[in-house]
Amino acid sequence: MNLSEIIRDRRSIRKYQDREVPREVLSEILEDALWAPSGMNRQNWDVYVVRGEHKDKLLGAVARAGELFKPTLEKLFKEKMVNITMKFFQDLGGAPVVLLVYMPKLTYEIRPDMGASERYRIEHNRYTNMLSAAALIQNLLLLAEAKGLGTCWMTAPKNAEELINEAMGITDKEIVSIIPLGYPDQSPPAPPRKADKIHWLGFE
Ligand SMILES: Cc1cc2nc3c(=O)[nH]c(=O)nc-3n(C[C@H](O)[C@H](O)[C@H](O)COP(=O)(O)O)c2cc1C
Repeated sequence: MNLSEIIRDRRSIRKYQDREVPREVLSEILEDALWAPSGMNRQNWDVYVVRGEHKDKLLGAVARAGELFKPTLEKLFKEKMVNITMKFFQDLGGAPVVLLVYMPKLTYEIRPDMGASERYRIEHNRYTNMLSAAALIQNLLLLAEAKGLGTCWMTAPKNAEELINEAMGITDKEIVSIIPLGYPDQSPPAPPRKADKIHWLGFE
């Protein structure tokens, strides 16, 4: 598979086979993913690779995030889709491994009277850390796809961030995303991509 195929074939997988992913395969993916670019090369990210009883604890917290997120889902989707999504929150599709991507926990105050530049000066570190972690995550997703593994990039569990951190014993970091990973047990159709998102300036 070439890179274009890997990018286009990757789907968010929400149902996984009951099959372990060998640790060597996980290591290969993670070591390569760490070659993502990062703001000022700070590499301000941490990835937790979670399975077994740690994963059971995590699932409890994610299920709670699902409950907190349900009212938002009900506004966005029909009942059937809400139920499918809630089920995914309960078992993460049976994924044998879950990756948790963290960045440093930073606190700052944004006031409504702040201009864009002043605000950016304050937010810069968190903004850069989050984007850098996102580059790492996309690497993870594509590397997994290249090895026949499925993933689902998830931010909704941030609705129960405190519960997740407590379950994992993490106190000094902020969750960027969580990523269930395993061999896919579904091949969902590709959601269509919008056509009007590239804007050429200075081209005829
Ligand atoms: C930043 C981000 C957050 C996401 N959060 C969730 C999530 O919480 N739950 C979920 O089921 N999917 C989540 N997704 C997956 C998107 O729903 C999915 O990427 C989108 O529908 C396109 O489908 P595809 O990934 O199969 O191309 C997230 C994706 C991104 C990039």
